[in-house]
Amino acid sequence: MGTAPQLLLLLGLLGLLLLARAGAWGAAGDESRETAAVRALAARLLGPGPAAAFALSVERTLAAGPGTDVFVLSGGGARVRVRGSSGVAAAAGLHRYLRDFCGCHVAWSGAQLRLPRPLPAVPGELTEASPYRYRYYQNVCTHSYSFVWWDWARWEREIDWMALHGINLALAWSGQEAIWQRVYLALGLTQAEIDQHFTGPAFLAWGRMGNLHGWGGPLPHAWHLKQLYLQHRVLDRMRALGMTPVLPAFAGHVPKAVTRVFPQVNVTQLGSWGHFNCSYSCSFLLAPGDPLFPLIGSLFLRELNREFGTDHFYGADTFNEMQPPSSEPAYLAAATAAVYEAMTAVDPDAVWLLQGWLFQHQPEFWGPAQVGAVLGAVPQGRLLVLDLFAENQPVYTRTASFGGQPFIWCMLHNFGGNHGLFGALEAVNRGPAAARLFPNSTVVGTGIAPEGIGQNEVVYALMAELGWRKDPVPDLSAWVARFAEQRYGVAQPDAVLAWRLLLHSVYNCSGEACRGHNHSPLVRRPSLQMNTTVWYNRSDVFEAWRLLLKATPNLTASPAFRYDLLDVTRQGLQELVSLYYEEARAAYMRQELEGLLRAGGVLAYKLLPALDEVLASDHRFLLGSWLEQARAVAVSSAEADLYEQNSRYQLTLWGPEGNILDYANKQLAGLVADYYVPRWRLFVETLASSLARGVPFQQQQFNSDVFLLEQAFVLSRKRYPSQPQGDTVELARSTFLRFAPRKVAGTR
Ligand SMILES: *[C@@H]1O[C@H](CO)[C@@H](O)[C@H](O)[C@H]1NC(C)=O
Ligand SMILES: *[C@@H]1O[C@H](CO)[C@@H](O)[C@H](O)[C@H]1NC(C)=O
Ligand SMILES: *[C@@H]1O[C@H](CO)[C@@H](O)[C@H](O)[C@H]1NC(C)=O
Ligand SMILES: *[C@@H]1O[C@H](CO)[C@@H](O)[C@H](O)[C@H]1NC(C)=O
Ligand SMILES: *[C@@H]1O[C@H](CO)[C@@H](O)[C@H](O)[C@H]1NC(C)=O
Ligand SMILES: *[C@@H]1O[C@H](CO)[C@@H](O)[C@H](O)[C@H]1NC(C)=O
Ligand SMILES: *[C@@H]1O[C@H](CO)[C@@H](O)[C@H](O)[C@H]1NC(C)=O
Repeated sequence: MGTAPQLLLLLGLLGLLLLARAGAWGAAGDESRETAAVRALAARLLGPGPAAAFALSVERTLAAGPGTDVFVLSGGGARVRVRGSSGVAAAAGLHRYLRDFCGCHVAWSGAQLRLPRPLPAVPGELTEASPYRYRYYQNVCTHSYSFVWWDWARWEREIDWMALHGINLALAWSGQEAIWQRVYLALGLTQAEIDQHFTGPAFLAWGRMGNLHGWGGPLPHAWHLKQLYLQHRVLDRMRALGMTPVLPAFAGHVPKAVTRVFPQVNVTQLGSWGHFNCSYSCSFLLAPGDPLFPLIGSLFLRELNREFGTDHFYGADTFNEMQPPSSEPAYLAAATAAVYEAMTAVDPDAVWLLQGWLFQHQPEFWGPAQVGAVLGAVPQGRLLVLDLFAENQPVYTRTASFGGQPFIWCMLHNFGGNHGLFGALEAVNRGPAAARLFPNSTVVGTGIAPEGIGQNEVVYALMAELGWRKDPVPDLSAWVARFAEQRYGVAQPDAVLAWRLLLHSVYNCSGEACRGHNHSPLVRRPSLQMNTTVWYNRSDVFEAWRLLLKATPNLTASPAFRYDLLDVTRQGLQELVSLYYEEARAAYMRQELEGLLRAGGVLAYKLLPALDEVLASDHRFLLGSWLEQARAVAVSSAEADLYEQNSRYQLTLWGPEGNILDYANKQLAGLVADYYVPRWRLFVETLASSLARGVPFQQQQFNSDVFLLEQAFVLSRKRYPSQPQGDTVELARSTFLRFAPRKVAGTR
């Protein structure tokens, strides 16, 4: 660690240099910097040899003006030419060529990059322009559910993924607590007070939005240093590729200790959040008229920009999932203006990126007058609203396109990064184009805003593609067939049929059951009231499972195929858990002990262990790897234990008492065996004993009993393998043969 401070100092100086360069859009220096960055990306992706066949360059003049991204493809054979109006546009052009001319595929789970030789020719020149000024990526929550433990190597891969998918606007959210720490110390808070304020790493997203404080903390000193370092590298790379990073700004929440240092300060304590009591929630909100508001806001932003430079975009969320202290439009306008004015006091060119989630989350509070007060408090064009869940509950349609403020049509898709096959591909496909056609539309971008990544990759592939399309994909069935072919690198008819079935079922979500959250009994605390309704015919999943198994001889070499085979096997088992749960419950209701033990026994003693075993065969589904990531960030074993516990809480109880129980559920080997299995066994045993003794099942009692098991999992320090065991294809096949046939015929 000895050189870290010097390194940080150097990086800080680099940040200042970048600040001096900001605003130099179009300068030749930027073109060559972005050209170099996109060439380096190609070399990382393809290897230096194959990458040499691509002549990549950035030429600003390709764009009709600032704000249009264009790429031009030409050539073939030994040399393909990819020109882009920015680094991101060139990377998107490269990805377009690899995908549509070479049949390649780049995804979180891996890449399929077999290049045909000679390289396929582009007929003439292929020019494509994005119809959108912005293609945005991330959600404040993604930083906690998915990015929290990442090192630079993982961030580098993600930024490559972003550039290849044409993303040009993204949060750069790391390291902000290090800056806040400086500001709080300058204001006179003690280190102990600051330690009580910050949440642990796995809960920072909610600390940042003012929902929580203290939970899972404190943040170790080394955490701050590492995050500052990461943030510098992330910013440097994003800027090198011509991406616009969005920095955080002050939204009005302050640590409680501010009231000790400034006894006269005018603060309001907000209500509790997420079933947490006021020990961890009920944050303090500074009154917009208090002189400390602009002071704290500009102290923070000045220090942040001094450290990192700026691209003039800032994110801040004052009332995310929190009821404002007053519904008076005058108050809401003042609270909003105070945030904006604290930004522009430091950066006159500030643009505020606001998550529009609050409007759709509490529609009963946010009537037209309240929404209008917020939107009207910032000059037109300076508030950029994320319509965060537009594929399901768009807000632009009922706010006259956010009252004329520009907005980004975002697909949220996934809450908590749950596994579970799910998507609304038809709605996603139609959404962005419909937003452009809306009367007096102010849509300026598309966005990918999942709470967690690393699941349902097909949904993200489609959404990223839509950022470069004027119209919806005309035929999703053909599109998904091509997707499968590119993903596996082979056109395999059974695999294509499987994907068509998935498109028709799990990925064609609509209606009430379709909420972007896995509610399967498998990943929920058992009760007699579980709702197993799904929006699709379960037979389609079983049939897709069978078809993928049929395709195995030709596809086992493909890592993406093995991932999908495992994921569909996992989904098949998830469906079976619902069916056996229904059977067990029905037997219990009829007071048939034998039937209860039979169905409950299959569920808790056969299906779930089989699931754990198949998950254990792939490094992408291991609790061991998941926890190892968290421990690897630490510089001492005490820190490693804190991070591991943060991670275990997030996956399960979420808060100390199961406050947001199972919200961020995952299906990982080890988690199934030691968390889901014990709770299901206890449930079956408790039901059986209730029948045997002739006393009713007591849910409250069961909840307290099962909580002890859940908590034991969180507090445990058991180590799990971070290397896969067993063969996925063999395990998927034997699992199917063991369980599926009995349930395939005609069940829903
Ligand atoms: C909040 O809950 C915790 C247990 O999670 C308890 O220790 C604490 O006393 C509670 N605080 C308040 C203010 O109720
Ligand atoms: C504190 O702020 C609130 C909300 O802006 C305001 O209504 C109230 O008058 C302020 N109180 C004082 C004492 O300034
Ligand atoms: C669109 O804007 C024009 C000009 O402001 C206005 O006259 C018209 O009513 C608007 N249309 C809709 C559907 O809001
Ligand atoms: C998706 O469901 C809608 C009805 O909700 C239906 O019209 C459409 O054909 C379905 N799409 C596919 C691919 O099955
Ligand atoms: C189960 O959920 C579905 C979809 O959300 C809903 O239509 C149905 O009424 C629910 N059933 C029960 C028994 O709550
Ligand atoms: C699978 O591969 C075998 C030989 O490797 C080949 O004969 C067969 O045609 C392939 N089947 C499909 C459906 O691609
Ligand atoms: C579900 O699909 C199966 C197999 O195609 C079919 O037999 C069954 O009737 C379907 N169920 C419903 C409710 O549509």
